[in-house]
Parts: sequence; C-alpha cells; structure tokens
Amino acid sequence: MCGIVAYIGGEAALPRLIEGLRRLEYRGYDSAGVAVLDGEGLWVRKDVGRVSELAGHLQGGPGTQVGIAHTRWATHGGVTQPNAHPHTDGTGRIAVVHNGIIENSSEIRARLGKRGVTFKSETDTEVLPHLIREAYKGDPLQAVRDALAHVRGTYGIAVVFADAPDVLVVARNGSPLVVGLGRGETVVASDPQAVVAHTRQVVYLQDKEIALVTREGVQVSTLEGREVQLPVETLDGDYGLASKEGFPHFMLKEIHEQPRSIRRALRGRLQLEEGNAKLGGLNMTPRDLVAVNSVISLGCGTSFHAGMAAAMAIEALARVPARAEIASEFRYRHPIIPRDTLYFAISQSGETADTLGAVQEVQLKGGEVMGVVNVVGSTIARTCARGVYVHSGPEIAVASTKAFTSQVAAMLVYTLMMARCTNLSLEQGQLVAKALDAVPGAVAHYLSEPGPIEEAVERIAKARYVLFLGRGFSYPVALEGALKLKEIAYIPSEGYPAGEMKHGPIAMLDPGTPVVFVCPRDGQTEKAISNMMEVKARGAWLIVIHTRGDDEVARLADLAIPVPETADFASPLVTVLPLQLIAYHAGLALGRDVDKPRNLAKSVTVE
Ligand code: M6R
Repeated sequence: MCGIVAYIGGEAALPRLIEGLRRLEYRGYDSAGVAVLDGEGLWVRKDVGRVSELAGHLQGGPGTQVGIAHTRWATHGGVTQPNAHPHTDGTGRIAVVHNGIIENSSEIRARLGKRGVTFKSETDTEVLPHLIREAYKGDPLQAVRDALAHVRGTYGIAVVFADAPDVLVVARNGSPLVVGLGRGETVVASDPQAVVAHTRQVVYLQDKEIALVTREGVQVSTLEGREVQLPVETLDGDYGLASKEGFPHFMLKEIHEQPRSIRRALRGRLQLEEGNAKLGGLNMTPRDLVAVNSVISLGCGTSFHAGMAAAMAIEALARVPARAEIASEFRYRHPIIPRDTLYFAISQSGETADTLGAVQEVQLKGGEVMGVVNVVGSTIARTCARGVYVHSGPEIAVASTKAFTSQVAAMLVYTLMMARCTNLSLEQGQLVAKALDAVPGAVAHYLSEPGPIEEAVERIAKARYVLFLGRGFSYPVALEGALKLKEIAYIPSEGYPAGEMKHGPIAMLDPGTPVVFVCPRDGQTEKAISNMMEVKARGAWLIVIHTRGDDEVARLADLAIPVPETADFASPLVTVLPLQLIAYHAGLALGRDVDKPRNLAKSVTVE
C-alpha cells in the first residue's frame, strides 16, 4: 500500500528517493511521484505506473538535497496522474505526501472551496497542502501542527517547503513513520526497508506526534506541542535488497523457501524430550496457560486463514475453545472481551489497519493480545507488548505464501505449549513435538516432487469458476487456495467446507468444472469421500490433494496430487503447497503479474 520516503542530507535527493521507493515497491501501488527543492521553488513529477517509469522521467531533474516521494495505492479518487502524490498548495511552494485517509476531507474541501481554493485532484490528501498554506506564517512545524488540528482520520505525512529549504516536517497518526538518523543526513520512510541503505539507527514516531527533520536529526513533539524524547533503536532485521535467488518470481522463490522458513518458526522452540514447547516472547507460565479459558485469533485474508487452522488445533489438542475472527469486522460489532480469553493478532506485515484496530479494541477493554507477526518492529508487534515473531524472512510477493505456513507453525508451537499444560501426557506431547519437527522435511519432500501441477493448471486456467473444498483442518486450506487463485490468476473461485457444498455451491457445478478437494487422510476422510461422490455425480472435474499412498482417495480423482503424510493438525502446512503452486502457474499461464497482482497491496494500512 502507499509508501513514503523523505530525504534531507548532503547528497542529491532524487536518486535516493527513487531507491527508497524501489524498496517499497513490494507493498503494492499504482502511481508514484517526487517533489524536490529546485532553486527557489519545488520540482514535482508524478505519474501512474511503476517507479522505474517515473525514474525514466527524472533526467535533468535538480541535484538538490531535500525532497519527498510516494507510491500511491488508490483509495479516494481513481488511478490518475493528478491523484498521484505529492500534492501541492495553490502556489506550488508546499508539497505533501500522505499515507492513510483524511475522513473529514469533504467538509474541509467545501470550506476551502468557499475561500477560493481550487483543487487539482479528487484525493482526500489535497486538503493538507492547502490547510498548511493557510496556517503558514514562516514556521513550517507550527503550520503543519495547526493544519492537522482541522483533520480527522489517519495519516503519515511528509511535507517540504520551498521557503524553508533546510527542514522537512513529518507527522503520524495511525500510519507508521520511521526516521533514520544517518551522518549528515536524515531519511524518513513508512517502512524501515527504505531507511537501511542509509542507516540502522532509527526512531519510530508514535501516533499524534510531529517532527522537524533536519540533516542533523529530528526533534519530536506531540501535536499539542509537548517535547518528546524517543529512544534511538537499531534495526537488526534482514533488510537486504531482496533477491529472487535465481527464481523467475519472488512468489515462486518464497514458495520454495518454506522448508527453511517453517524451520525458523520452530527453531529453538520445540522441546522434543519434554514433549513441550517454549515461546519466550509470550512470557507465560504454566499457571498463566491453564488460566486461559478461550483463545481468539484476529487477522485478515491469509492471516485469518492461519488463525482458523490454529484454532482447530488448539481445540483438538488443548481442548480449550478457540476460534478465528476477521479483524475488519471485529471491533464494529461491539465485541465482548472476556478477561480469561487470550487474543492473538496474526499479521505478516504487522501494519494491517484492520488488525491493528482490533488489537486496540481488545486492549481498550482490558484484554490481552499477543502479536504473531513477521515484520520485526512493525506497529502491531510494538502495540502488543508480548508476542512471537514468525521469522519467515521478508515476504516480497504480494500474495502471502511462506508467511502463512510460518504463522500456522508458530501457532502450533503455542498449541503444544498450551496443550501440554491442559490436556497432553508426556508421551502425547512428545508425539506432537515430533510431528511438528518433521514438517520442514515433509515440505521439502513435497516441493521436490510436486506432482501433476501442470495438468491441474491446464484445466484451471481455462475455467469460468473453481470450487475448493475441505473438511476440518482442510477447510481453511480450501479458503486459502481459493483466495490465492483469485489474487494471482483473477479466476472466480471460492472455498467451502465440503459438507456444506450440497447446501448451495453444488448448483455451480457443470460437467467439467474444476473442483479442488483437499483431503489428507484424517478423521474426516470417510465423510470427504461421500462429498467427492456428490461432486463426481455432477460431472465436475475432481482434483484431489491426498496423502501419498492413500489409493482409496486417489482412485476417485480425475487428477490426484499426493502430499507427504503428516499429523492431521499439521496437514495445512503441506496441503497448502500444491494450491500455492496452482495459483502461481495459473497466473503465469494467463499472463498475470504474479508478484504484483492488480489492485492488491502487500501492507493494507487503511481500513
Ligand atoms: O500483513 P497481514 O498478514 O496482516 O495482511 C493480511 C492480508 O491483507 C493478507 O493476508 C492478504 O490477504 C494477502 N494478499 C494474502 O495473499
């Protein structure tokens, strides 16, 4: 989603801003732009399309050392050149880039319109440079502070003034900003990825804080004007420029990375001898664990599916009620937050606004939320005082693959830890720990022999509609398979619990309709077989993901894709793999941009 980079230093700003934007490209965007000082004024270039196209239009741009830049993911107003950021005031001497949403922009536009302001875009953002212009009396910081007093909504902003060439002003409310403190240069960005090329010493702005940024550093205060001393932190994550390591796309690379990424989620956490597990970041004693009477996972999209798989495992192994909730719905239904419920906020990016909103609602009502996050230092990780990093490494492809399996793996570690206290004997705990420990090997084995993916893709890429089915632990996997195919190949598809098919979606089946049935051998296989017969009786084309050697199930399929045997609770970690590959190859077959599918953002920082 939208990205911000701002630079003030001793080197030419333009190439540094473009480099920063390149590092944010993975977040997803539809247009990009820059504004740098230009002699007496500002030099602004922006357009629809890729950062590389924008970079191609910057020849002959000024070599000045102060500027701001942005990648936009459209919310208010279509994908057009005028709607791209930066936005300027009427004189063109103040430019603003903005992440987030100004909720009262219509009212402000109407007010400013009456005072003779004309707008060049349809965006909510454009009110900001005009408000700042009205408030500007020679003090840039005060002008931004006064302008923001009129604004309701979320923002991370960076502002450059032609009349104050030695400063930038940035502010945050609900949209992250990190300030990198280099030698004689300061870089501000919405994501540490765009800062690390310059420095690893950073401060994270908090909500309702504003900062004056100079080459020498940053002075932070609250919007009310109280000075704030933020701790300087060192970025110690893996922020290297992501490489495809010989794969044609990040998505394929990330699918193939899963034996390693799952291993990292488990490493140092499983206790094979004790039949137990340890997640230090949760800081929970056995007494704390047994005091938990129910578990709720909060997340969106793929992370919600990971929460569903985890909830099923918690109920099965720990015998504690558990469920997953879609974070974007959660806080608006005025949820009851029982004291003895433990919440997990599952998020790859750690920046998803809907999930963050749900976390804040739980916290406001006195509940305890643990973060299950990939990106170190992200807002959700910081907001939840306790939690677990899933360590899948940077996920660059917009469609989540390795983060899903790492999230499930980390939640299964928690499950074992809890279950060992509530329900499992030493021997049972040892079996669970052993089963989890075997998963990376099973994943590697599958990826080395992925089965007839091409044949599946041949059918699916031509399909008008694809139905994904699964029962029990395979139901969230069916949902994830359908989501992946929609995201990457834009093929209408839906995931359903297999037993529910006869209550509606069966009407969608024509002779030849591809139905992908996720059916590893588990306690529900007999029931699943009956559901497969119902599919076959309608002449649909049945692709079955089954446990290697399970001939009873394989025989029913028009196309059988075997996966290695695992414990039932761990099966999502292997059954999801062929679905990820099917989505990837179907996307390629249809000529889609698999790493950056249309309309999607990697980090969804608006509600
Ligand atoms: O960063 P998060 O895990 O919080 O993101 C949640 C969803 O936006 C994300 O999983 C989305 O569904 C992906 N595009 C899935 O591939």
